Amino acid sequence: MIALRDVHKRFGDLVVLDGVDFEVKRGETMALLGPSGTGKSVLLKHINGLLHPDSGSVNVDGMDVAHLKRRELANLRNRIGYVFQFGALFDSMNVFENIKLGITDNECASDRGYCENRVLECLDLVNLPQATAQKFPADLSGGMKKRVGLARAIAGQPTYLLYDEPTSGLDPVNADIIDSLVEKLRDELGVTSVVVSHDVRGSFRVSDRIALLSEGRIQAMGTPDEMRKAENYAVQQFLERDFK
Ligand SMILES: Nc1ncnc2c1ncn2[C@@H]1O[C@H](COP(=O)(O)OP(=O)(O)OP(=O)(O)O)[C@@H](O)[C@H]1O
Ligand SMILES: [Mg+2]
Repeated sequence: MIALRDVHKRFGDLVVLDGVDFEVKRGETMALLGPSGTGKSVLLKHINGLLHPDSGSVNVDGMDVAHLKRRELANLRNRIGYVFQFGALFDSMNVFENIKLGITDNECASDRGYCENRVLECLDLVNLPQATAQKFPADLSGGMKKRVGLARAIAGQPTYLLYDEPTSGLDPVNADIIDSLVEKLRDELGVTSVVVSHDVRGSFRVSDRIALLSEGRIQAMGTPDEMRKAENYAVQQFLERDFK
């Protein structure tokens, strides 16, 4: 379970998170929506300890993420796959090596045969041809880089997946494939996910619950049905664009 309690975070004078309460249950897929620049990526980075709150707490499986020792944090991160908004691939490594970085278990990572199979399997899951393994990031389109980033995030068979806009910039066919993959990872492997997205329709289709972040706070959180019926002005205004 992921639980943020009264999280505050500012950068200099810029207040980004201003009392965020956010909870994701085991096995649940939570969509995190909100206007651009509102702090969705910042919130996600708190969950795996890339950023620490100024005040408030971030808990994953009962562990206080901001106060873990190095080894404990490394162990936690092994269980959390992170799909970075802009791919974050290493340009000097080919796709095989980039995806292999996601295999964090030492025993698996040192088994060449296992890694070769797992990398090809992950390419397959994100709908990329096996030959992509030998290419370098510079030779890939934006959408392909995005999918390689996703393949790397799932390579280590994580129990948590944090997706930062996994479908933005993808054509509708590949966006659907990624949405289906999110569902499949939840249904078949019980993965707990947070999906940051601008795709309101897609989020309503694949998520168990939806949270709306705006002005530093979670303005509303609920099932797709609850969100549709919500009378909260911020929610209605945000959903209107896509549903009316
Ligand atoms: N490390 C940082 N140092 C200073 N400011 C930062 C840092 N990270 C984020 N910010 C600022 O925090 C605010 C929220 O950024 P964030 O990237 O979380 O927005 P977002 O909701 O993910 O937006 P988008 O939908 O465009 O990706 C922005 O104003 C951004 O410039
Ligand atoms: Mg972002």
